[in-house]
Amino acid sequence: KAGALWGGRFAGGPSPELARLSKSTHFDWQLAEYDLQGSRAHARALAAAGYLSADELDQMLAALDLLALDVADGRFVPAESDEDVHSALERGLIDRVGVEVGGKLRAGRSRNDQVATLVRMSLRDHAAIIAGNVIELIDALVSQAEAHSGAIMPGRTHLQHAQPVLLAHHLLAHCWPLVRDLDRFADWSKRADFSPYGSGALAGNTLGLDANLVATDLGFGAVVENSIDGTASRDLVAEFAYITAQIGIDMSRLAEEIILWNTKEFGFVTLDDAYSTGSSIMPQKKNPDIAELARGKSGRMIGNLTGLLSTLKGLPLAYNRDLQEDKEPVFDSIETLEVLLPAFAGMIATLHFHTDRMAELAPQGFSLATDVAEWLVKRHVSFRDAHEITGSLVKFAETNGLDLHEVDDAALLAISPHLVPEVREVLTIQGSVESRDGIGGTAPVRVAEQRAALVERVRKL
Ligand code: ARG
Repeated sequence: KAGALWGGRFAGGPSPELARLSKSTHFDWQLAEYDLQGSRAHARALAAAGYLSADELDQMLAALDLLALDVADGRFVPAESDEDVHSALERGLIDRVGVEVGGKLRAGRSRNDQVATLVRMSLRDHAAIIAGNVIELIDALVSQAEAHSGAIMPGRTHLQHAQPVLLAHHLLAHCWPLVRDLDRFADWSKRADFSPYGSGALAGNTLGLDANLVATDLGFGAVVENSIDGTASRDLVAEFAYITAQIGIDMSRLAEEIILWNTKEFGFVTLDDAYSTGSSIMPQKKNPDIAELARGKSGRMIGNLTGLLSTLKGLPLAYNRDLQEDKEPVFDSIETLEVLLPAFAGMIATLHFHTDRMAELAPQGFSLATDVAEWLVKRHVSFRDAHEITGSLVKFAETNGLDLHEVDDAALLAISPHLVPEVREVLTIQGSVESRDGIGGTAPVRVAEQRAALVERVRKL
C-alpha cells in the first residue's frame, strides 16, 4: 500500500484487477504540472491558516520545486503502484521532504476538488494554444483571399451553379465560423474562471483555509459559489469538447471543398507537394490526405463530445468516479486539433488556385439568370414576371445549346419585349459580382471592407 492515499480502513491493498481498472496515470499524468501548482498554492493557504510553520512551508515549497523539475525532465514518473497523478505526486513529495512535513499537505483538500481545478487550468492553457492555431488558419485564408482579390468562381447552392462570387468572398466565409469559435473560447474562459479548490470532497472544509488565496495563486478570478457544483459539474469540460468539435466541423466543411476542388473534374486547386501524399501503388497519385484526415477527425471529436455527454447524463450529485471519464475524450480532442490545425493551415497557405478555370466555369449553368431577372426589376418589371421571362430565356438557351449572352436580339425580343439588347451588359461575371454591393455582398469593394473588418476583429481578440 506504499504511497496509497487511502487504506486505513482496509484489510489489505486493492486486488490487481481493481488496481488495473482504477488506474488513470496513463492519461492524467499530463495534469502533473498543474497538480504541483495547486499544491504550492494549497501549502501557502495551509501556512496562512496556521497549519504549517514558516519553516515547514519553505521545506514543502522547496520539495515541490524539486519534484516539479524531476517531473519536467522525466526523472520522476508514475510507479506501477500509483493510482493517479495525485497519489504519484504525493509519493514524490514525501520522498523528497519526508512524511512528517509531506504528510501535512493533504489536509483540507480532496482529489475531487483538485482534479476539477486542474482540468480547468489545463483546458485554459490549451484554449490559448488552439486559439493561436485557429488564428494561423484564419491568417492563411485571409492571405489567400488577399492574393486572389479579383478572382471569380462559381458560387453554389445545393452544389449546383448558383451565382458567381469572388473566391475571396468564399474563403472569408470560411473564416467567420472560426472567428466565432474563438469567441466561444473567450466566452468559455469567463465561465471557467472559478476555482473549485477548497470545495473538498463535496461539502467544503472545516479548516478555515482561504480559497480566494488559492484561486488567485492559480490564476482564477474567483472561487466557485457551491462546493457540490465545484466538484460534481463537468459542463465546462463538455462545452470545451463542443468547441473543439465545432472547430473540427468548420474545418471539415472546408476540407470537403478542397477535396472536390482538387479533383480533375473541378480542377480549381493544386496542393503543394509538401502538403499532399502519394500512393504506394499508383505512381501518378497526389492525394489530399490532410483534408481527408480533417474530415475524418471531425467525426472523432464529435464522438468525444457525445461520449462525454453520455457519461454525464443521469449522474447524481456530487462526485462519482464516472467523472474520471471526462479527461480522455477532451484530451484526445485537444491533441487531435493541436496536430491537425497546423497541418491544415499549411495546406491552405500553400494551396495553388487555378483562377482561370474558376472564371471559365463561373458563368456556366446559367448562373447569371438572377442578374437578368434583377435587371428587369430595375426596369420596373415585377419580380414574378421577371422570373418567368428569365426562365423562358434559360429554357430557350438550353434547348438551343447557347449561353445566355449568345441568344440573339430577335430571339430575346421574341421571348419578351422587355429583353432589349442592353440586357447583355449584366451578362458578365464581372458585372454580376460588382453589382452585388449591399452589405455583406460579393462586390469587390464590399469584400475588401469585409477582409479589413475580419482582420481587425481577429486583432482585437
Ligand atoms: N482520478 C479521479 C478523477 O479524475 C480523481 C480522484 C477522485 N477519486 C475518488 N475516489 N474520489 O476524477
